[in-house]
Amino acid sequence: MKTLEHLFERNVAWAKAHTIRDPDYFSRLSEQQAPKYLWIGCSDSRVPANQIINLPPGEVFVHRNIANVVVHTDLNCLSVVQFAVEVLKVEHIIVCGHYGCGGVKAAMEEKDHGLIDHWLNHIKDVSRFNEDELAGFEGNDKVDRLCELNVMEQVANLCNTHTVRNAWKNGAQFSVHGWIYNINNGILKDLDALVSPPSCEL
Ligand code: CO
Repeated sequence: MKTLEHLFERNVAWAKAHTIRDPDYFSRLSEQQAPKYLWIGCSDSRVPANQIINLPPGEVFVHRNIANVVVHTDLNCLSVVQFAVEVLKVEHIIVCGHYGCGGVKAAMEEKDHGLIDHWLNHIKDVSRFNEDELAGFEGNDKVDRLCELNVMEQVANLCNTHTVRNAWKNGAQFSVHGWIYNINNGILKDLDALVSPPSCEL
């Protein structure tokens, strides 16, 4: 039986390195988490939330799924948002997509991908909503533009959730941001999709 021993070895080395730098690190973290940020991103292994923004454990509450989608019937995502907003009281929610997203690419294809096509239909919807604009792009540029448009759409979906609308109505002050990550150079770009409570007219 393979027990993935190498991963346990890496874990011990990682924990040791943290403890050497800061002996109280884990005991302090075990008391509570108080992250200021909720990150909603893609499951892609090249887009790890904490590493990209260079923050240690305890600083970011994270939800990831294929193509960073906020679906109105996805109890997993909606529960994460509710907990982050109502209990953790995060100050910022970041919806982060990435260029070259495999989920977005697959949604643009006509072929059958099996079960995942149900999920990708949400991206197909974004494509249809923006058909005219996307007609001006070809190949990878088209994929990348849809990656950006998908972030904007998911920011709007998030702002329309019961949790976010109610929280803002009741005076919560968190903002929602739309970002995109470039897997070719490791750089984040703000898509200027910022939504703050007073300007939210969704
Ligand atoms: Co992706």
